[in-house]
Amino acid sequence: MGCKRISFFGLGYVGLCTALCFSSKNFTSIGVDIDQEKVRTIKEGSSPIYEPSLHTLLQEFLDRGTFHCSTNPCEAVMESDISFITVGTPSLPDGSIDLAYIRQVARDIGEALKEKSSYHLVVVKSTVPPGTTEKTIKPIIETHSGKQCGTDFGLCMNPEFLREGSALHDTLNPDRIVIGEHDKKSGDILETLYRDFYEEKIPSIIRTNLPTAELIKYASNAFLAAKISFINTIANICEKTPDVDVTTVAKAMGLDKRISPHFLNAGLGYGGSCFPKDLKALIAYSKKLGYTPELLEAVENVNKTQPYKVVQLCKNFLGSLKNKKIAILGLAFKPNTDDIREARSIPIINKLLKEGANVTAYDPAAMRNAKSIFKNKIEYASSATECIKNADCGILATEWEEFKKLTPEDFIQNMKQPILIDGRRIYNPEEFGKKLKFAAIGLGN
Ligand code: UDX
Repeated sequence: MGCKRISFFGLGYVGLCTALCFSSKNFTSIGVDIDQEKVRTIKEGSSPIYEPSLHTLLQEFLDRGTFHCSTNPCEAVMESDISFITVGTPSLPDGSIDLAYIRQVARDIGEALKEKSSYHLVVVKSTVPPGTTEKTIKPIIETHSGKQCGTDFGLCMNPEFLREGSALHDTLNPDRIVIGEHDKKSGDILETLYRDFYEEKIPSIIRTNLPTAELIKYASNAFLAAKISFINTIANICEKTPDVDVTTVAKAMGLDKRISPHFLNAGLGYGGSCFPKDLKALIAYSKKLGYTPELLEAVENVNKTQPYKVVQLCKNFLGSLKNKKIAILGLAFKPNTDDIREARSIPIINKLLKEGANVTAYDPAAMRNAKSIFKNKIEYASSATECIKNADCGILATEWEEFKKLTPEDFIQNMKQPILIDGRRIYNPEEFGKKLKFAAIGLGN
């Protein structure tokens, strides 16, 4: 058995979920965050983020003492053998990455290491452009600790691939582990940690250098984003082709093992805190090197225009949208989260408002976050049925399970005129098309 005490700097999605997963395997996890309010909330056993099962696990591990958190970086470094850096790396206006939080944590860890006599491993989990760990993080830690990387402390870059809404499952069941290492000893320690963690369920481990690990994260997310923009492009062609449905096209394509069925769901495009930001960062990074990645720019452009497709479908039925009541079912960027960052509902609602429509929205989890964006510009319903009541048109924007249960009769009985646009392809077009005025992304008619 190797290292058993791990600290996590940054208690967002990645930090908190990974820390609790380590606690679940009897490691001691220490969470550190500069946000005192967040640390207080977590200490009280409340999760600051919406993630299935997280709340229960948090309370259990706090009680058991296998997880605790603080605002004191020095204490966390002293009490652990490995520190994961899991702070956010937000976008700057030019699409490149703001490394301010990363730099601050590197300084904090460096200062703490100055006081520590034993070897310590630092692992960067935050998504950072190639070269950041070697050229930015390493020198900051060395300067502030007065110690040498590779001798006194180790350094790895270990990207995460967890999805919001299934973060715990993804952490416990990864497809692969990528270890970018500054030196062999650092990589060996991290590999041993993961071997202890996963035991016989250990996935493939890729060991490589620091910048390759950094690029693997961007390349993976860019590829998945490209897959989504690709199928949305096909969907837009299908829509103009009578009797062709993109869902059948995607299903058949996905059976080809070289293509795979995952991330081939046509819809309103991708949102969230990762894909849009990571794609922008990779484009900015590439351009700085003198190469314009045209394919990636096209992926972004398709994603930008895709949400407006449903507004056009709405206009095809209603003509002018002025004073029409439009019901938006789903605000979160995807189901099982309250996160509305870069959610496709935002450009859709803004466009509808610009067209003079009256918008009413409902989401099972994201209402509070949506209110902070739209304030009193739209109406908020407390259920799906209330949302579609007397509406002229309904737009399905997030594929929550509860929306899948709605029947054509629910729409007919509640709406002023039963017009439904399926932006996420959850309704059977044959059933809904017979009973309602129905249109959907990628459905040719
Ligand atoms: C993503 C990556 O999957 C994860 O590996 C990374 O570490 C963080 O970013 P996340 O942002 O949580 O995770 O969401 P994900 O499930 O990947 O979905 C992203 C967006 O793509 C959502 O808006 C979703 O609706 C959209 N999407 C996904 C599609 O439009 N079609 C698909 O087939 C799949």
